[in-house]
Amino acid sequence: MNIHFDWLAPIYDRLIGDHGTDRLAEFLALPADGILLDAGGGTGRVSAQFKDDINRIILCDWSKPMLKEAQSKGGLMPVNGKIESLPFAAGSVDRILVVDALHHFPNQPKAIAMMAQALKPGGRLVIEEPDIGRFVTKMIAWVEKVTLMGSHFHRPVEIAAMMDACGLKTSVETTERISAWIVGEKPLSDAHHV
Ligand SMILES: C[S@@+](CC[C@H](N)C(=O)[O-])C[C@H]1O[C@@H](n2cnc3c(N)ncnc32)[C@H](O)[C@@H]1O
Repeated sequence: MNIHFDWLAPIYDRLIGDHGTDRLAEFLALPADGILLDAGGGTGRVSAQFKDDINRIILCDWSKPMLKEAQSKGGLMPVNGKIESLPFAAGSVDRILVVDALHHFPNQPKAIAMMAQALKPGGRLVIEEPDIGRFVTKMIAWVEKVTLMGSHFHRPVEIAAMMDACGLKTSVETTERISAWIVGEKPLSDAHHV
């Protein structure tokens, strides 16, 4: 459901706080001359920190008020749309980042298929999600359920399976912290068709 983020947009960054990017930067290994797509990127809280590391950052989000906040940061190219109907040509994007957003996408297999298709061969999809195996994430999931946010959490291995099914070579990293990272790389010779 979109309306929650429309309301939260003006206070979102202050509410959620800063986001460290060290691990994400390692997974992304951004090419200086390339395109990063921040899918469900919201206010640009995370991807704005990569502005000096890559040529172009496109931020696609369903909520216009969230995009307005992203635009105010400068250096991000906001695109309004659903990831499930991603308006990008196949093989046009070097890296895709999804932070704390996948569980909000109504059709996650479709969203992942669209993102895999948009990646260039050799490109990477990096998903950071709260690990539903953790107690804290179960509490978050409960709060998002009772507030009718329409979230649906999958275990990291289930997300990896969705990415594998789209032809990405996938690995999972979990820690003692809430977040898990699921990283998929598109093979250079793309024999798989999504
Ligand atoms: C929890 S916020 C995370 C924002 C940002 N990635 C961050 O970590 O600060 C989730 C975002 O996903 C967006 N969103 C939800 N469903 C979407 C969809 N189907 N397509 C695009 N964006 C979507 C929401 O509008 C919201 O901005």
